[in-house]
Amino acid sequence: MQPQPATVTVVDHPLVQHKLTLMRDRARSTQGFRRLLNEIGMLIAYEVTRDLPLEPVTIETPLQAMEGRQIQGKKLVLAPILRAGVGFLDGMLSLLPSARVAHVGLYRDPETLEAVEYYFKAPSDLADRTVLVLDPMLATANSAVAALERLKQRGAQDLRFVCLLAAPEGIARLQAAHPDVPIWTASIDSHLNDHGYIVPGLGDAGDRMYGTR
Ligand code: PRP
Ligand code: URA
Repeated sequence: MQPQPATVTVVDHPLVQHKLTLMRDRARSTQGFRRLLNEIGMLIAYEVTRDLPLEPVTIETPLQAMEGRQIQGKKLVLAPILRAGVGFLDGMLSLLPSARVAHVGLYRDPETLEAVEYYFKAPSDLADRTVLVLDPMLATANSAVAALERLKQRGAQDLRFVCLLAAPEGIARLQAAHPDVPIWTASIDSHLNDHGYIVPGLGDAGDRMYGTR
């Protein structure tokens, strides 16, 4: 029997949905787009870490000793897929300041839509950590599948994929290639167009974030 694919969670918090609508607007400035992606990164970090296990810890308040709770065990790695994934990084690091960072440099070949790697640098102890792979766009999923393969080759075993927009085609492909990796997204859009862009989408996330074309 095939393993059941991991879950897809749509983060439908009103703040996320409001900010996502502002980002989709073609009139949004580069500065505004970047700020909103950063803010949504912070809000999604809250959701994606919701189930991290806690352990008791004894501390002293100014009044007495008490048993508090702290996050136990494995530490986090944030793994943005360059370039656009970097847009999530600051927001997430502001909530998860002790996370390590792995950079996965990939671009999508405009003709074939295959992912091409140009950079990879990750902490050596990936096997002992929970890795959050970050990319605003899950379109064909070629980039996500390649990034997850690379991180698994380097020992990662506990991975989560975080995006802003997902195409149904990308979700199906990611679940088929990596059924062990749960997905968080702020929206599942309608479909991919003939150029592999998410519709209605928000355009090219990297270009809108950095003001390039
Ligand atoms: C975009 C996006 C994803 C990829 C998604 O990156 O940030 O990484 O496309 O498409 P896929 O699911 O079909 O692989 P792009 O290759 O444009 O690079 P950039 O972030 O440097 O602009
Ligand atoms: N990459 C983007 O930046 N946008 C899309 O719609 C698809 C891939």
